[in-house]
Amino acid sequence: MKIDIVSVFPEYFEVLNLSLMGKAQSKGLLEITAHNLRDWTHDVHHSVDDTPVGGGAGMVMKPEVWAECLDELLGLADAAGTAAQPTSETSSAAPVLIFPNPSAPLFTQRDATELSRTEHLLFGCGRYEGYDSRIPDYYRAQGIDVREYSIGDYVLNGGEVAVSVMLEAITRLMPGFMGNPDSIVEESYTGEGALLEHRQYTKPAVWRGISVPEVLLSGDHGKVDRFRRDEELARTNEIRPDLIARLDCKALDKADRKTLMALGWEVSAAHPRKLDR
Ligand code: ADE
Repeated sequence: MKIDIVSVFPEYFEVLNLSLMGKAQSKGLLEITAHNLRDWTHDVHHSVDDTPVGGGAGMVMKPEVWAECLDELLGLADAAGTAAQPTSETSSAAPVLIFPNPSAPLFTQRDATELSRTEHLLFGCGRYEGYDSRIPDYYRAQGIDVREYSIGDYVLNGGEVAVSVMLEAITRLMPGFMGNPDSIVEESYTGEGALLEHRQYTKPAVWRGISVPEVLLSGDHGKVDRFRRDEELARTNEIRPDLIARLDCKALDKADRKTLMALGWEVSAAHPRKLDR
């Protein structure tokens, strides 16, 4: 997978040379290039932002600089350096263009899974009060697959951290990235019936007087599976009941239904419904 990142702090992405992401680059699975947006400026100050039209605090990133950069990285600039004519057809060779944005839809495991199957991603990191909204609109009109994502309900200083988060979630799902791909199958948020994962323990069985749950030492795989599944249902009910409400009741087994009913859910319709108690 080829990944281009545009930022005014490209050095930030040196961390991607560490750990599994670094290994994936050495193996040739990933090719990551961080570009400095200021390389596409022409003024002495290398300015990338300006005051907001209509007033307000802070600065907004200018469309002209971004467009010169993105035209080049998207292959939309011709040899003379002028932008190509708009087209309504998406080019399959063009990268998916992603802008982190705190006011966008939430980035989820489903998005990570979908994007892990693409060949080329191009991330644009906003700073200050964000980027001129015409930038994503313009590239959508050129037939580019443009996405804007928030990584959570809080505001960061810029898109760099958000891009690192998305990249890690995406790349670890690529075939060959993880040493043991089974660990991905068992994770939280994976698959249709997404639940929070059960708790994990390792040896020793008793540590500082705290024992691991007895059933995990029983060697009875059926019992262990049921215990873990019930714990997932209980933890999800407690922490993220919205995920329970999205489960498909037809996909639940008898024991799941019993557990959910004991937790106060009605399971006879398409999705579980919390009963008022
Ligand atoms: N930029 C600033 N805050 C952000 C957030 N929560 N998600 C994505 N991009 C951001």
